[in-house]
Amino acid sequence: MPVALLSLTVSGMTFADNLPKFGIDPIEDVVAAMTLEEKVNLVVGTLRDYVYQPDPAPGMPQRVTGEVNDERGNTAYSTGKVAGAAGESYAVPRLGIPSAVFADGPAGLRIDPVREGIDRTYYCTAFPTGTTLSSTWNTALVEQVGTAIGDEAQHYGVDILLAPGVNIMRNPLCGRNFEYFSEDPLLAGKMAAAYIRGVQSTGVGATVKHFAANNQETMRNGIDVIISDRALRDIYLEPFRIAVTEAKPMAVMSAYNKVNGAIMPENKYLLTDILRNEWGFDGFVMTDWWAEGSGDVQTASGNDMLMPGTWRQYDEIMDAVKSGKLDEKLLDRNVANILRAFENTPVGMRRRYDENPDLKAHALIARKVATEGMVLLENRNNVLPLPQGARVSLFGNASYDTYVGGTGSGNVNRAYKINIDEGLSDVGQFRLDTVLQKRYQKYIADAKASMPEDNVWSISVVPELELSDDEIIRAADAGDVAILTISRMAGEGGDRTLDEGDWFLSSVERRNLERVADIFHSQEKPVVVLLNMGSIIDMTDWKDIPDAILHIWLPGQEAGSAVADVLMGTVSPSGRLPMTIARKYEDYSSAPNFPHSENPATVYYTEDVFVGYRHFDKNHIEPLYPFGYGLSYTDFTINESTDTVEVTNIGNRNGACTVMFFETTTDDTIEPLRKLKGFVKTKVLVPGETQTLAKPTCN
Ligand code: GLC
Repeated sequence: MPVALLSLTVSGMTFADNLPKFGIDPIEDVVAAMTLEEKVNLVVGTLRDYVYQPDPAPGMPQRVTGEVNDERGNTAYSTGKVAGAAGESYAVPRLGIPSAVFADGPAGLRIDPVREGIDRTYYCTAFPTGTTLSSTWNTALVEQVGTAIGDEAQHYGVDILLAPGVNIMRNPLCGRNFEYFSEDPLLAGKMAAAYIRGVQSTGVGATVKHFAANNQETMRNGIDVIISDRALRDIYLEPFRIAVTEAKPMAVMSAYNKVNGAIMPENKYLLTDILRNEWGFDGFVMTDWWAEGSGDVQTASGNDMLMPGTWRQYDEIMDAVKSGKLDEKLLDRNVANILRAFENTPVGMRRRYDENPDLKAHALIARKVATEGMVLLENRNNVLPLPQGARVSLFGNASYDTYVGGTGSGNVNRAYKINIDEGLSDVGQFRLDTVLQKRYQKYIADAKASMPEDNVWSISVVPELELSDDEIIRAADAGDVAILTISRMAGEGGDRTLDEGDWFLSSVERRNLERVADIFHSQEKPVVVLLNMGSIIDMTDWKDIPDAILHIWLPGQEAGSAVADVLMGTVSPSGRLPMTIARKYEDYSSAPNFPHSENPATVYYTEDVFVGYRHFDKNHIEPLYPFGYGLSYTDFTINESTDTVEVTNIGNRNGACTVMFFETTTDDTIEPLRKLKGFVKTKVLVPGETQTLAKPTCN
């Protein structure tokens, strides 16, 4: 009896009915039906015609990972359906295996904003970067951010988001700290778990990265991190463990660097023995883009997918299987890990997408999290919030050209950004000094006219405008308060330096601050400094000059509006530092052996577990602003009972309060004196209001 060949079509894919079908039949049956070529194609991303890092970021070595523009190219594989996505996986239509789309990044979806021949835009929301998220200490809010970014990814046809980044802030000069969460593993892990839950609530997969010990950008493609197993587990792996066990991310991205001699994409001990066998991770592991290593060794070590894919890796795996060097069962294992994960992605669930996310609603979330993440460091004589109608003299380039995010893969193609001056004008509560505004705007425009266009990897930094005393005196006569913004750009691919204009104020920044303060204070008018940067700078010898200091971080596209919300008191600052601000750089435990500008092959984490406040506590070093520090416009009392804490707003303004729980020890010869074990945050309490919160279950 001839078998009628019924063809079954599901969402545009047609199958002969005698083959197992992805998403319908068991993964094992689908894998068993795949040819060797299909399996090797599936574990190597499809962006095959690039075999080197295009436009390497500053400090990144130009790396060739195979013959340039292999004649096989990738035209057969990449669908290009989401222009600007970071990568795609290989489809096997005969088995119903779709191509999945991968895109960055932590502060918002990164895809091209325009497409050739199409008369519309594809903007995404630029949220504040990682340091802002963790400074909120509000996991529910961070989950909202993850949900919004996942929603945008789903609407635009992206299946896997390459975020969050959770590497520990071992040293303040790491170029990517802006994308990360904290010096403390628990805070970093809890923020990551919240973010991942949000993203994956939309069906989009999250990718926790960069696993592990990617705590510097210098020579990141292979620098060897020498680290004790205890420090590895207690500090550098812990954020990943919390994220994996509490939020079950669909993917993990292995880091570029080595750990104790084994490059991460080939590090079986971490990728398989710990990540999978100890923690029970059941998603798939991908490499970072163009990571070093051999495709066959990476495959055997438990790095399931090699992104964005090169023909060299394809050949290495294919040849290794054919020669018997690589057991095909290991390839099958990796293919099954990938397909099992893909089943739960939008494309795996055959969801349609409309390319029309609710950007307006997401902008409101971006503004809310930006305000809640700002950290008030100083507020002498309660100069903040500013009185309604105050005449504001706004100084500093970034007041008029505000940094809202970082460069590199974490960049977001947003529809707009609201600069600080625009935000202050828009709220209609302040009168801005328009002479200053025009002066800065013209200076910045003229300077940028002769600078290279900004791009994903770099933004032209205009030298800080140096004002004359006469200009400052004129402004002081016309104004009630001076606001001066100090800024630093942040980006992937390079670390910061101990130079003026980076870790230290530049001479112009210092002169501007000193002159503005002298002149405004001579008229008994206050000076407020805003810190617009993804990390921290040296503050010791100037932090007493202004009356108030507000750290606004890289606040996303709604920057100016969020700054206005806090400066006028609509929102009382409730941010708390996720890292320690030291009195001097040398106080950081990693200062003696952070790579800095040299290009070392090795970095030794000799401080072991004593990173951040663990080190300051143990060595009784007084920080300038401690981990967890942050002022409010109001005051609170905290009463603790066995299972709860009762927080009361005893001031005269609204405010929210974070309560932190530390495990302490008296014997710090081995263990740190304090370790953060949990935290809770109240809602915004009105004056006199009390909220009772259950103590968190501590990890
Ligand atoms: C980059 C980054 C990684 C990013 C990836 C794709 O080099 O290290 O965070 O997700 O490549 O753009």
